[in-house]
Amino acid sequence: MSEKQKVSRRQFLKTAGIVSGALVLTCGGLGAAATIPPGVDFYEKKSEGKGKMKKVLVAYSSKAGSTSEVAKAVGEVLSKSGADVTVEQIKNVKDLATYQAVVVGSLIRMGSWVPEAKNFIEKNKAALDKVPTAFFTTCLTLKDDTEENRVKVAGYVEPVMQIVKPVENGLFAGKMDTSRLSFLDRMIIEKMIKETNGDYRNWDEINAWAEKLPALML
Ligand SMILES: Cc1cc2nc3c(=O)[nH]c(=O)nc-3n(C[C@H](O)[C@H](O)[C@H](O)COP(=O)(O)O)c2cc1C
Repeated sequence: MSEKQKVSRRQFLKTAGIVSGALVLTCGGLGAAATIPPGVDFYEKKSEGKGKMKKVLVAYSSKAGSTSEVAKAVGEVLSKSGADVTVEQIKNVKDLATYQAVVVGSLIRMGSWVPEAKNFIEKNKAALDKVPTAFFTTCLTLKDDTEENRVKVAGYVEPVMQIVKPVENGLFAGKMDTSRLSFLDRMIIEKMIKETNGDYRNWDEINAWAEKLPALML
């Protein structure tokens, strides 16, 4: 083996080592800790019904901020239908008792909802079973919106659907912005998944989906 080949082999092993370490840490939750917080943290819009309207919670998990913007868009559509809407990160939701309808959204990571979102559904199953609940998901698989990819993403959400049956299950293309990811996540995206940056969210589709919700939830 030549000196040049040895160096490239060393470089390859170094990259593989970093990426495997990143995977272990990310799957263990440490990667998420370093992620930049979402773009929309909390949003509340009161209807003019002076306390008579239904209170709706849109709770979401977002790592790089794009799912939080989808949650806000869904909340805005619901508030136009006369609901009192709160859009909030899942980790900050305290009590579901005051809400008459709940929308839960998560991004996909490594083929499933993030653990925080799935845990939220498990922990609040009793409360969610009592009110109309809708799910939505963002991911990159749907940047090619084919039947095959829809089936694949539906499979990612299936474990959560086994816990609580939603009245609607929106599956949307999301966004990749590696500048908003932690170092570890960036390594996974660039070196392993080899995904490039892009915003694939289709706002017409997202708004049209949200417009179906009032008839099912309010
Ligand atoms: C570490 C990592 C793993 C991901 N894994 C998947 C995946 O398995 N399937 C998929 O379709 N999208 C995957 N994505 C893409 C995200 O679901 C997509 O970019 C999402 O819109 C990001 O939402 P956020 O901006 O709210 O964090 C992954 C993204 C990251 C950063």
